[in-house]
Amino acid sequence: MISNDILKAATLLNENEVIGLPTETVYGLAANAYSETAIAKIFSIKKRPTFNPLIVHIKNIAQLDEIAQEIPDLAYELANKFWPGPLTLILKKKAHISNLITANQDTVAIRMPNHPVALELLNHLSFPLVAPSANPYTAISPTKASHVHNYFPNDVKLVLEGGTCSAGVESTIIGFENNKTILYRLGALALEDIQKVTGKIIVQNNNNKTPIAPGMTLKHYAPKTSIVVTKNVSEAINFHASKKIGLVLFDTPQPNIDSSYQIILSPESNLKEAAANLYNALHQLDNMDLDIIIAERFPEHGLGNTINDRLERATKTEQ
Ligand code: TXA
Ligand code: MG
Repeated sequence: MISNDILKAATLLNENEVIGLPTETVYGLAANAYSETAIAKIFSIKKRPTFNPLIVHIKNIAQLDEIAQEIPDLAYELANKFWPGPLTLILKKKAHISNLITANQDTVAIRMPNHPVALELLNHLSFPLVAPSANPYTAISPTKASHVHNYFPNDVKLVLEGGTCSAGVESTIIGFENNKTILYRLGALALEDIQKVTGKIIVQNNNNKTPIAPGMTLKHYAPKTSIVVTKNVSEAINFHASKKIGLVLFDTPQPNIDSSYQIILSPESNLKEAAANLYNALHQLDNMDLDIIIAERFPEHGLGNTINDRLERATKTEQ
């Protein structure tokens, strides 16, 4: 059920249930981070392998050292600048943080979400929330409450209504190893913005078959319809001419294809707006019974890199 009842959500979480949680990036499947019973439910509902660790969502920066230790100054600088917001920090975990959350690593992922409903809920709770994106493993992440409800009509009793996610792609993940700062996942916060605080950092956004960070599996965010990503959309349209085609485009429509089969992510050529509309476009096209989705490759700066990363992962046919 989709609901505005934050107190009901808090009650369910206190009873070790899983709820749908709106954040500014994507909707999450949230559970009590201090209850292994609740955490285990997330993995089973999502059909997520347990080697893929979860992000802990906190209500304020002060809650950071309830969860992490030996926090570098740079982590505080980033948190002060970007929280609440779409930045996840990988830090050394405190001993009481469950190995179920961290997939047996000694680090834990943490972020403070920038969504009024999520923050109000967290302020009603005596524990932080673990929340992976609320999609079955490898499917497209949800950016509306209805997406979550449609994915898990029986297993998730309550999805909090939080409108359409404003950022629309997952958080950017940053960690610290041997005094180096590393980006593990491109996300809603542009690398360029992070580097204004950190200076140049190492980008290890994983595109290999063997994940460096667990969970950075190659196939992810994938619609059921097959998808190709190309700089030359009109050439791809000609190549697939006999098929029923849907298009994901940046700012300009293509001639010769019915407009109802084209989604323009940002008519004003704004990469943030395009990122915010990306998953919704994939959800929509995936429900149109198409033979193929042709997606335009985006400019390689700012959130264009994040969009290209998600489109690339959506094209993969094996994990
Ligand atoms: O925007 C987001 O981050 C959303 C919303 C709901 O907050 N959450 C999200 O969670 O995207 P999920 O579980 O779909 O992705 C979490 C990512 C995974 O790729 C996982 O491998 C990585 O975080 N991660 C978690 N803990 C980690 C750790 N200790 N070291 C490295 N990567 C970690
Ligand atoms: Mg996910």
